Amino acid sequence: MKKIIVGNMKMNVLSVQERDQYLKSFKKELIRKKIENSEIVLCPSAIHLENFGKTLGKRVLLGGQNCFWEDGGSYTGEISPLMLKNFGCAYVIIGHSERRKYFGENDASINQKVLSSLRNGLSPIICVGETKTERQSGETMQVITRQVKAAFSGVVLGKLEKIIVAYEPIWSVGSDAIPTSNEILEAKVLIQKILARSFSQNVIQKMRIIYGGSVSVKTVKQACIDSGMEGALIGRESLMPREFLKIVKIING
Ligand code: PGA
Repeated sequence: MKKIIVGNMKMNVLSVQERDQYLKSFKKELIRKKIENSEIVLCPSAIHLENFGKTLGKRVLLGGQNCFWEDGGSYTGEISPLMLKNFGCAYVIIGHSERRKYFGENDASINQKVLSSLRNGLSPIICVGETKTERQSGETMQVITRQVKAAFSGVVLGKLEKIIVAYEPIWSVGSDAIPTSNEILEAKVLIQKILARSFSQNVIQKMRIIYGGSVSVKTVKQACIDSGMEGALIGRESLMPREFLKIVKIING
């Protein structure tokens, strides 16, 4: 199974100059690296998708940072999975904690987005994870269970392999704290167990479960390798091509 490393660039790269600079340095770093066992996915702001696609070519796959669930129509400000697909995306991040926190996303809307992205041939990267308070009160497992069950509601077996689950503890995102490898592995096993209630083990074993939250060159071993994860979702470090591709190389092996 190929590993997957996803750069969640969030609302960054604010000008044409910045974009060109980023792409130039990304290409330069990429040429030097031999990455054979992993997929590299970048999720820039939607405004940059087309340009990233043209500039980076086939070695880098593209993903949206969010989508709506309708294909098109009167939904001011939204981007549909169909549009993402038609503009070169293979992936879309769904249910990121910042979407849940600032834009009112909930388990039900996240589920609709998952189903719609699958229907349109995109691979959803579903984010789940607990807040600091939930962790402190020992609710981590319940929260993950609730989020996974809701996100996968109505998903058919044939589509399962396309889905990526990103375990992203909210307290770890944007901080420098990460869980222990064991805690991350526990979350992975739990996600697999929840899915095993509805789907066969064979298929679940083919799904990629990745880790997100303060992944860097320093933390990647503990967060993604010792924990047995199939890749990473990377925020801040994805804004620095050199660092990002160093992490890719470590995960790739
Ligand atoms: P971070 O963000 O790597 O900056 O912690 C991760 C994310 O939000 O996906």
